[in-house]
Amino acid sequence: MNSIVTALPGKIASVFTRLDSPYLNGGQQLAVKYFSVATVLFFAQLLFGLLAAIQFVAPGFLFGWLDFSVNRMVHINAMVVWLLYGFIGSVYWFLEEESGTEIAGLKLGNIAFYVLTGAVTIVVLVYLLIQTGPGKDSTIWFINEGREYIEAPRWADFGIVAVMLVFFYNVAGTFMKGRWSGISGVLTLDLIALAGLYCAGMFYLTNITADQFWWWWVIHLWVEATWEVLVGCIMAWSLMHLIGARRKIVQTWLYIEVALMFGSGILGLGHHYFWIGTPDYWFSIGGFFSALEPIPLVAMVVHSVYDAGVHQFKSRNHPALAWIIAHTFGNFLGAGVWGFMHTLPQINLYTHGTQWSASHGHLAFFGAYATINIAFFYMAVQKWRGNVWMGGELPGNGWKWKWAMALLNIGVLGMTVALLIAGYEQSFIERAVEGSTWSGYFSAQNHPWFQQAMHWRLLFGLITIAGLVLLIWDLMTIGKGETRPALQLSEA
Ligand code: HEM
Ligand code: HEM
Ligand SMILES: [Fe+2]
Repeated sequence: MNSIVTALPGKIASVFTRLDSPYLNGGQQLAVKYFSVATVLFFAQLLFGLLAAIQFVAPGFLFGWLDFSVNRMVHINAMVVWLLYGFIGSVYWFLEEESGTEIAGLKLGNIAFYVLTGAVTIVVLVYLLIQTGPGKDSTIWFINEGREYIEAPRWADFGIVAVMLVFFYNVAGTFMKGRWSGISGVLTLDLIALAGLYCAGMFYLTNITADQFWWWWVIHLWVEATWEVLVGCIMAWSLMHLIGARRKIVQTWLYIEVALMFGSGILGLGHHYFWIGTPDYWFSIGGFFSALEPIPLVAMVVHSVYDAGVHQFKSRNHPALAWIIAHTFGNFLGAGVWGFMHTLPQINLYTHGTQWSASHGHLAFFGAYATINIAFFYMAVQKWRGNVWMGGELPGNGWKWKWAMALLNIGVLGMTVALLIAGYEQSFIERAVEGSTWSGYFSAQNHPWFQQAMHWRLLFGLITIAGLVLLIWDLMTIGKGETRPALQLSEA
């Protein structure tokens, strides 16, 4: 027994060190570990999403074993965690090149990776095997905190904060040791805000309005402020790397986008305060500022497409550039357009908490955040293989990456439209016609438009996961046996 306990960590570490590649620097080796776990969690996310979607059309499915509430929770928490893994990996990926020096505490960074991955594994096992507990403090500490999207029990919260501190130390410490840039300055300040806001979801208040008030500081201020700024930094760096965009240009865009994002996103928080018992002035503040939120997202589309156009879409890595462009459009459509549709209180009165929100949630998280992480997976695999060619004229005309991209995007768009139809029907029947009554709720749930939409969502969900399987296959094979070196870019 003892020998198993002492040998196990070494065994686990050896699984990950097998991912090392002589072509990568220290930060990039660590990034590849993060990306690998992210991909596994992405797959788990979709698997549990599918189980939940099946339960919408066949409610008895797995009942008593793996209830809808558990599947839904694993689905959305796996999403948050894999996206964070992807972000941390992306920053570690460019940290050494951007700072011009080695990472300040690479060993510590590696330890933090294993600690975090161990904690995530335990949390998921508890979700699946124990599932629920009594309404006591012990449940909050050891099973589930009960806050949608950030359900990790409190012991894990402290672990997450500790790991984030190590990450922050590495980012700030490395730039301090090497050189600063516009991108790294914005990134470092943003990480302080990102980690700080997580603490707003860690304390427990018995007043549900007060509790939700703070919970939104994590949920909204992450996705509509700090995560947006983070992807702004990541995109700026990748445009320089992929198409040779000029630093001066990408940084100017970055400053404008960040100013607009914080200008609208922070007070835009008010669009979650309409109906939870907060004062009435949030109607005007939330309505006004959140309606401005699409503006920086338009700027990001213009920025990426314009830059790529100037360079005639010549890139070192076609799949990565395609996913970066998918990111800017997905961000604009999912967050900007789909968010704008229901952000005015006059409309949100009818749409609040319907499948309309789920429609927006899917397109926004996928469009804004899954896409840019996938772009980084492609950049990573290119260098991992020895900085090989990944432009046009790939074997088989690059059918795998193109089909993976098509299936994933068609799948998510299809689910989005199905959910939008269901949400429209709910707003109309349950809210407008039946005045939000109990019987109105059931009329809406039993309406054919709702029922059919749930079937369509399942079908498009299957298409999405097929796309992911193909994507993983492509990531494991692309560039294998390639002898041509990557395209050399001259700074235009
Ligand atoms: C990438 C950025 C964004 C992501 C990932 C995102 C994601 C989400 C998600 C998952 C929800 C559901 C939350 C819940 O469980 O209650 C939500 C709600 C909402 N989002 Fe976004 N969102 C983003 C940006 C935006 C923007 C820019 C706007 C406005 C222009 C917006 C407007 C709203 C509104 C009004 C709600 C509340 C829906 C309701 O009342 O049920 N979102 N968002
Ligand atoms: C195989 C594909 C997928 C299926 C079948 C699926 C299914 C589901 C289901 C059944 C729910 C619960 C909805 C409810 O409570 O009414 C859900 C929620 C959610 N899913 Fe997915 N999903 C899939 C892919 C994705 C992807 C790719 C993302 C984003 C990257 C995502 C993000 C979310 C979010 C943010 C929520 C919470 C929405 C809200 O509370 O408004 N899902 N999903
Ligand atoms: Fe929001």
